[in-house]
Amino acid sequence: MKLTNKATLISGGASGIGRAIAEVFLEAGASVVISDINAPMLEQAVKELSSLGKVQGVVGDVRSMADAAKMVERTVELYGAIDVLVCNAGITSVMPIEQLEEDEWDAVLSTNVKGMYTLIKSAIPHMKAQGGGKIVTLGSEMGIVTVPESPAYCASKGAVIMFTKSIAIDLIRYNIRVNSLCPGITRTPLLQAEVDNSLNPEKTAAEQASWAPIMRVADPHEIAQGALFLASDESSFAVGSCLVLDGGFTAK
Ligand SMILES: NC(=O)c1ccc[n+]([C@@H]2O[C@H](COP(=O)([O-])OP(=O)(O)OC[C@H]3O[C@@H](n4cnc5c(N)ncnc54)[C@H](O)[C@@H]3O)[C@@H](O)[C@H]2O)c1
Repeated sequence: MKLTNKATLISGGASGIGRAIAEVFLEAGASVVISDINAPMLEQAVKELSSLGKVQGVVGDVRSMADAAKMVERTVELYGAIDVLVCNAGITSVMPIEQLEEDEWDAVLSTNVKGMYTLIKSAIPHMKAQGGGKIVTLGSEMGIVTVPESPAYCASKGAVIMFTKSIAIDLIRYNIRVNSLCPGITRTPLLQAEVDNSLNPEKTAAEQASWAPIMRVADPHEIAQGALFLASDESSFAVGSCLVLDGGFTAK
């Protein structure tokens, strides 16, 4: 699968799955902008990825419409278009409803859901003007089935999947294909944060290791291959779909 010279913006591209997507896309020939809220990590990622192809960084917060617009504008300025948008930035939350504070609820919903709205809203005029584009959102297995003690995260990912379906049927008339990628448990700093911030870190870590029937967690590059498929012409009939790569978790 090739993305030769495809102008691509990947949010949350400094770490984990977003960074692996950047790597795989650069290897497929894409010209990439990665955006992230964490400036030092972004700078480091751009430095390390630059041997693979054209890559630039934009610091910003996807919860802010102004920042999201800046990420999109920079991509267009650098590469003349925005062919592919990957809405990947996200945060996690393992907290039962009785201990879930308003701040955490707001942070998870605004990053994971509003953070996609801002980017997509900013990208649509460009994609329409250029005759089309591809948008990949990051859902999760937890947007499909629930797990204990994760109401904010499950709610946010369920929202991502339905948001994706809803806009997909509206935007296909402009040749903009929107789909979501729904990973299972993947070895990234987000997964470690889930352990560190949970009420019982030891229990959470043990659960992660035996989570899916495949009895291991995914490498981020295995997930990035799904993003490549959805961003490429090979997925030409996929509209509003949800590509689940979860080691069998939701099949149980
Ligand atoms: N790791 C998993 O097991 C897993 C499973 C299913 C879905 N996902 C989803 O995949 C996506 C990436 O997760 P990851 O595991 O690579 O996480 P990660 O923490 O390794 O990376 C997320 C990146 O997003 C950035 N970010 C966070 N908030 C931001 C904001 N407001 N604005 C801009 N950037 C911001 C972070 O700085 C970080 O670089 C998320 O949407 C997550 O929900 C992850």
